[in-house]
Amino acid sequence: SVLEMEVEQINKGKYEHYMQKEIHEQPESLTTTMRGRLIRGGSCKSKSVLLGGLKDHLKIIRRSRRIVFIGCGTSYNAALAARPILEELSGIPVAMEIASDLLDRQGPIYREDTTVFVSQSGETADTLRALEYALENGALCVGITNTVGSAIARNTHCGVHINAGCEIGVASTKAYTSQIVVMAMLALAIGDDTISSQARREAIIDGLFDLPRYNYATALEGALKVKEVALMHSEGILAGEMKHGPLALVDENLPIVVVATRDACFSKQQSVIQQLHARKGRLIVMCTKGDAASVCVSGSCRIIEVPQVEDCLQPLLAYHLTVLRGHNVDQPRNLAKSVTTQ
Ligand code: G6P
Repeated sequence: SVLEMEVEQINKGKYEHYMQKEIHEQPESLTTTMRGRLIRGGSCKSKSVLLGGLKDHLKIIRRSRRIVFIGCGTSYNAALAARPILEELSGIPVAMEIASDLLDRQGPIYREDTTVFVSQSGETADTLRALEYALENGALCVGITNTVGSAIARNTHCGVHINAGCEIGVASTKAYTSQIVVMAMLALAIGDDTISSQARREAIIDGLFDLPRYNYATALEGALKVKEVALMHSEGILAGEMKHGPLALVDENLPIVVVATRDACFSKQQSVIQQLHARKGRLIVMCTKGDAASVCVSGSCRIIEVPQVEDCLQPLLAYHLTVLRGHNVDQPRNLAKSVTTQ
């Protein structure tokens, strides 16, 4: 098939696995995703975003009553990561829907809604059926895919290609980070007519989409990766939810990865670390460089220091766990890259 030929053409180079290669490709894939879309200079605005596939629809999107993100798996997690910045810059309520759940509930979708379909492959059956459902209900349908000519790209009213390049490992890595960057650019484009947030938008453009509030999505996505490739059960939990049940699981046998980088939730993360420590959990804390002493007072946890804006790291943990456990990282058992069945 065409796909098999494409796979043949792409070699792993110095890497042992596609997943490893795709994790390391992220500096380039993110650059490609942003290429030609960040505009500097111009008469009244010094910096802005241009998304060619959306520009004729921005007015309608700005007038919509809700933005509804729809996807499955990693694509859903990417949308969850982008939701805060979209709400902040657009001022429009953003709802999240797992495609199959929306269909099972026949959840309400209105003409006044903008629905955004996020899919690496552009062919996932559940997402595609949710698209048909949104079209029937008269919503504006926007596609965010990595595959030019895919069903979702063809059947939506408008959209943005993420341009992350071909992703072969079943577990999505570079497509995930590029999806987040595209949705951040979407937020910038929708908010572009609001003068009061111009400085904030420019700061985001300057900092290459320095989005601080990724961490719950990072935990969910990290847990998904650990499940799908390392074949170990794991969960992503909000710090504030620990006390409502999950804390009961904690003992000296439970490894826990805490994402405690500098953001608005930092002090919450610090207090959860103390609670986990008191119950002898095996803590691995991801924190911002230089913060080791403030996140782990007792010195008994393992620390992974990351640069201030680093969301690209979490797939690495799943990758190394998988290789250590001897499983296939690129094609986890029972999973397919593109799930075209319901
Ligand atoms: C499959 C893959 C996942 C992926 C999901 C959504 O389950 O194994 O890695 O996140 O489909 O795929 P999509 O192509 O729609 O992003």
